[in-house]
Amino acid sequence: MEDGSFKIVGLAGSLRRASFHRGLIRAAQELAPGGVTVEPYERLDEIPFFNQDVEDQGDPAPVKDFKEKIREADAVLIATPEYDYAVPGVLTNALDWGLRPPSPFRHKPVGIVGTSPGAVGTARGQMVLRQILLHSPAYVLPEPQMLIPYALERFDAQTGELVDERTRESMRRFLNALVEWTQRFKLPVTAHERSE
Ligand SMILES: Cc1cc2nc3c(=O)[nH]c(=O)nc-3n(C[C@H](O)[C@H](O)[C@H](O)COP(=O)(O)O)c2cc1C
Repeated sequence: MEDGSFKIVGLAGSLRRASFHRGLIRAAQELAPGGVTVEPYERLDEIPFFNQDVEDQGDPAPVKDFKEKIREADAVLIATPEYDYAVPGVLTNALDWGLRPPSPFRHKPVGIVGTSPGAVGTARGQMVLRQILLHSPAYVLPEPQMLIPYALERFDAQTGELVDERTRESMRRFLNALVEWTQRFKLPVTAHERSE
């Protein structure tokens, strides 16, 4: 992978300027192992509300672009806030489009990370996202889980940058695990394990 050929698309489930989750995706860009690039996808706000009448006429251009980016990626990194014990609408709306068959998320390796100001670090929200991604299904990395509590101690509140060195080290290990997880699916599998 020394040629930079392994590509991870990074989705943040927050549009906030100083979002900690956008900061997590930027940190992943900086901390990715050699040969791995993390490309932030920053256009979730252009995706219209899902409407099956619109879908029936053909995917709008931002939806096509989103699906194409997911399809081209070796793996996807989703940094999601927890909203109301679940995940933000900006993310689920994109997934409503993206999980419709034929879904680019089908059999796509996905890593989930998240942070919150409180003690549980998006544990509830991440479980909801895992459940949503079962629809295609995507192959969500089971471990390590990256639940980052007490966000205000670890991020720069003005910029959203991840400044805590131990959490940056955890991100480094998480990205290595996501790459290894993805490589497992390059192995041949039997037809009943992986039917299209
Ligand atoms: C609408 C809304 C709902 C939220 N619900 C939760 C929640 O259920 N659990 C939680 O730990 N934090 C919750 N929070 C706080 C978020 O964890 C916090 O605002 C976080 O920084 C959002 O991510 P961002 O920095 O990337 O925007 C909520 C915030 C908002 C705006």
